[in-house]
Amino acid sequence: MIENMARPTIIFYKLCVQNLTKRIQKILSFVSVDSKIVWDLCCDHGIIGLNAKYTGRRVIFLDQVESITDKLAGTDIPSSDIVLANAANYNFTKNNLKTTYILAGIGGILSVDILKNIIPILNFNDQIVLSPHNSIAYVRDFLSQSKLRVSLEEVIEDNGQFYEMFCLGTGYKYTVNPLPGELWTCNSDTINYIKDQIAYYTVKSAHSDQYAGVLRHFKSLLSA
Ligand SMILES: C[S@@+](CC[C@H](N)C(=O)[O-])C[C@H]1O[C@@H](n2cnc3c(N)ncnc32)[C@H](O)[C@@H]1O
Repeated sequence: MIENMARPTIIFYKLCVQNLTKRIQKILSFVSVDSKIVWDLCCDHGIIGLNAKYTGRRVIFLDQVESITDKLAGTDIPSSDIVLANAANYNFTKNNLKTTYILAGIGGILSVDILKNIIPILNFNDQIVLSPHNSIAYVRDFLSQSKLRVSLEEVIEDNGQFYEMFCLGTGYKYTVNPLPGELWTCNSDTINYIKDQIAYYTVKSAHSDQYAGVLRHFKSLLSA
């Protein structure tokens, strides 16, 4: 009994996570309202999942670091919803409930490895909310050749950093374009990101011809 009372509850965590960053708010806004299960993959602090849980869904937290899952186990999250595993080779099982997989805050190369592990068990109406923090061109190349389709793509600027975000699934309409921009909404975050990428690829192009195409592409987005 005493042990139970000492365990922080989900409500305690809700209080801790009220001030969500713009990045996390945007990730959460991509999660489909009718999702019954949400996987917070590579969850670390678990803030994304804890907020997805706020709406009453089942949320499963997965991370490969034991101290992280131990910390979550000290809350009232059911132990069956805390998984200590490598998401790139964890044995995900198919189910009939609409499921959302959130994959954010990790590198693009690892993201692709994890996507390759998830794609085979996806149902038609499942979704993946993806926001890698680097190697976006590599991720786009993979996505453009995979069976995943995209319903939504956005760029956000949060605390001086830019984040590309994708809402993916096998049941959506659009193929992911290896070159970005097609589905972006025109707002100040998007325009700042395009300018940032133009500056980045201008420097790269000075050293190698291989970036001329992508530089031209970003310039064309700005003039569109
Ligand atoms: C920077 S945190 C991201 C936290 C959260 N997803 C976010 O976007 O704020 C990265 C987390 O990914 C976990 N991680 C890295 N590789 C992993 C893997 N292969 N399987 C599971 N967790 C992994 C790390 O232990 C770390 O907790």
